[in-house]
Amino acid sequence: MKKRVLTGIKPTGYAHLGNYFGAIKPAIELSKSEEFESYYFIADYHALTTLKSKEEMQEYFYNIACTWLACGLDPNKVVFYRQSDIPEVFELNWILSNVTPKGLMNRAHAYKAIVERNEAEKQEKDFGVNMGLYNYPILMAADILLFETNLVPVGLDQKQHIEIARDIANSFNKKYGETFVMPDGLIEEEVCTLVGLDGRKMSKSYGNTIQLFTSENVLKKSINRIVTDSRLPGEPKDADCTVNKLYKLFVSAEEAKIFEKKLLDGLSWGEAKKELFEVANRYISPMREKFEYFQAHKNEVDELLRLGAKKARVVAREVLDRVRKAIGV
Ligand code: ADP
Ligand code: TRP
Repeated sequence: MKKRVLTGIKPTGYAHLGNYFGAIKPAIELSKSEEFESYYFIADYHALTTLKSKEEMQEYFYNIACTWLACGLDPNKVVFYRQSDIPEVFELNWILSNVTPKGLMNRAHAYKAIVERNEAEKQEKDFGVNMGLYNYPILMAADILLFETNLVPVGLDQKQHIEIARDIANSFNKKYGETFVMPDGLIEEEVCTLVGLDGRKMSKSYGNTIQLFTSENVLKKSINRIVTDSRLPGEPKDADCTVNKLYKLFVSAEEAKIFEKKLLDGLSWGEAKKELFEVANRYISPMREKFEYFQAHKNEVDELLRLGAKKARVVAREVLDRVRKAIGV
């Protein structure tokens, strides 16, 4: 039997180059393997813990959905759906919360970090924490366990959430008998951590991202904002600089070598950024066209996701029925 791979993508901002090279591209490559059956979904109800308005939800939801389709996700091959279209997830969420010790949630990193910050700032411990944030890991366990998932490809920051899902599956299985498949994280610790404009990890939370799909003009402007040192034209540049690191992602090994040599030979930062823009734009353009197509045809995106949810719900129903039977309802 094929192994089932499942991952959720949170629509909490515009997709950036770090998301593309660190998560989207590898997940799409994985979905092409005949060894696996892939379930990729947009975790819109998880995003609720951070989004500020209906407009943000709509904007980021379609940005992320169109991004995956534009980057080559094949909806005939991947079960691609929207979390909120699967009511079974939320029923399972409630059931699982009854086998989840509160202490386990107290130890979840995201919650703990807020408590620690509040304590440092002499605030009430739970200041700013709502139950959505607190229960977040249970909903994620429901996403995973409902589909008898074997493998969950995620970034290192999600490792604890997978462990929590396993703990919850274990306590359920112990109380009601073997019901859930035990999921494993597929955590690529080696996966490139892309640097952002300021040289730190590219991340929404640092405001140092280069958005994947914007106009050529905005892409050029973002690249021009990459922080460089004060070395003058003619002076050798550091091969470890952000411009070089980003350039490599878009080109072959030979092209990368040629560019690096030019930097070492004193290429000016202005010229270097111009060349980076050229290769980035060359790489992104064909995908950008598809992205713009889907943005202009949101009804097609909705329809694809509806079909995906229909497929997903066949499995979800089956597993949930088994769970209901196990608990006696
Ligand atoms: P952000 O840090 O911008 O909030 P997310 O946490 O939403 O990004 O990340 C979504 C996915 O993209 C995760 O799988 C994460 O590991 C990956 N990712 C995010 N930033 C980077 C980066 N700079 N390099 C590599 N992968 C990244
Ligand atoms: N919590 C994940 C993140 O922040 C998103 C997510 C929600 C997820 N449900 C999931 C990831 C299930 C993997 C499996 O990136």
